[in-house]
Amino acid sequence: MGGCFSSPATVNQTPSTTANISSAGVSQITNNTTTSNSSNISKDSLFSTTNGTSGEASPNGHTVLESGLRVFSYAELKAATKSFRNDTVLGEGGFGKVYKGWLDEKGTSKSGSGSVIAVKKLNSGSVQGFEEWQSEVNFLGNLSHSNLVKLLGYCYEENELLLVYEFMQKGSLENHLFGRGSTAQPLPWETRLKILIGAARGLGFLHSLARQVIYRDFKASNILLDGSYNAKISDFGLAKLGPTESRSHVTTRVMGTQGYAAPEYVATGHLYVKSDVYAFGVVMVEMLTGLRALDPNRSSGQHNLVDWIKPHLTDRRKLKSMMDSRLEGKYPSKSAIQIAQLALTCLENEPGMRPPMKDVLETLERTESANERQREARIHSTFQTSPYRHGQQPRHHRSPLHQRQNVARSPLHPRHSVARSPLQQRHDVARSPIHPRHDVKRAYPLPVRA
Ligand SMILES: Nc1ncnc2c1ncn2[C@@H]1O[C@H](COP(=O)(O)OP(=O)(O)OP(=O)(O)O)[C@@H](O)[C@H]1O
Ligand SMILES: [Mg+2]
Repeated sequence: MGGCFSSPATVNQTPSTTANISSAGVSQITNNTTTSNSSNISKDSLFSTTNGTSGEASPNGHTVLESGLRVFSYAELKAATKSFRNDTVLGEGGFGKVYKGWLDEKGTSKSGSGSVIAVKKLNSGSVQGFEEWQSEVNFLGNLSHSNLVKLLGYCYEENELLLVYEFMQKGSLENHLFGRGSTAQPLPWETRLKILIGAARGLGFLHSLARQVIYRDFKASNILLDGSYNAKISDFGLAKLGPTESRSHVTTRVMGTQGYAAPEYVATGHLYVKSDVYAFGVVMVEMLTGLRALDPNRSSGQHNLVDWIKPHLTDRRKLKSMMDSRLEGKYPSKSAIQIAQLALTCLENEPGMRPPMKDVLETLERTESANERQREARIHSTFQTSPYRHGQQPRHHRSPLHQRQNVARSPLHPRHSVARSPLQQRHDVARSPIHPRHDVKRAYPLPVRA
């Protein structure tokens, strides 16, 4: 959750490395109490809730807050995750590990959204983590949208800080785009569009609020996917309230993830709503190419995906050669070109030149509809050119072979059983306990700023 690099907002300062994170965290807490740019939506919600004063006991005896968040005890979450056992680890980020958990039926949340949960456990002793934990509770506890991950509750006991979310079956977009092995099936083009549209709706919602919310950490690992690949944005640890009407930006210490952070923000600490749009553009390029925003293992000159690829996005032939090989060429080139062009506008250096998320969403939806129409037309033309026209199919069309195909689609077909087997579920759980990206990312120093 959150900051993979951080540095003070002051211009002309030597770039921080990850070693500076904890000291930077202390100063941010000070900032939040003294400036009007505090990330808290409801400033007292956290503290009024952690002592339970504004909470109500539910019929199950759990404390449920006005916001609908439930206060979990550490013991409950320990039991839910089998004592935070290694084989329940879903992934690990800067905040700590994320575990899969099971609540017994009596313990389900107020929303009654099922008994499988994801539990994020803060690494003990992280000041930075406390700040982000607080921001997560305050933002996600107050916001609700079908493209934002649902925060079910939290635990705050002694030194233990945890967050409890709805479980997202397909994990993060990052795992699908860059993961290896059987757990990461290549995403078809249509699914990529669907994910981009869901994420754009989530981000657009934040930007549409009366007091806009700047998400600040938009990236593939923070886009989670449910069982039908609906995208939901997670991790509000770095979110900020947007500027008031008279201002174009908020000034803040530079935090976020290298490769995704907008150039003006990295250079000046000036954070715009449109800084999120830049990060969205980076994710679009990742979707096109299947390459990470930042990869120090690539040849020199190619570490930063956008710097490297941007010039190729305008050229159709070059774009084709840069497309994700895992797509195996199965995408309409017109659609890919539209996405590339849209990405280019999002990646404009000047924030004012980038489109608002509302427009980005509309373009994506148009691209998806055109894609859909093209697919239907293709199916139609295949049917038209078939030797068997309207009702002329010979009787033997329903051959034993065809029947066998029908059987293969039945729920009882063994192929389906395999897909839903406990083995497959175990794959989900086993999804990379410690994601290698984090080591790479955190070992990578900030680029030198002007
Ligand atoms: N609600 C959830 N349901 C299912 N899996 C989840 C959920 N939340 C997180 N995960 C998994 O845990 C991994 C780690 O998430 P986390 O947000 O802690 O780190 P990150 O996003 O990879 O990095 P960062 O700390 O920079 O945000 C995710 O990539 C995802 O695979
Ligand atoms: Mg995350």
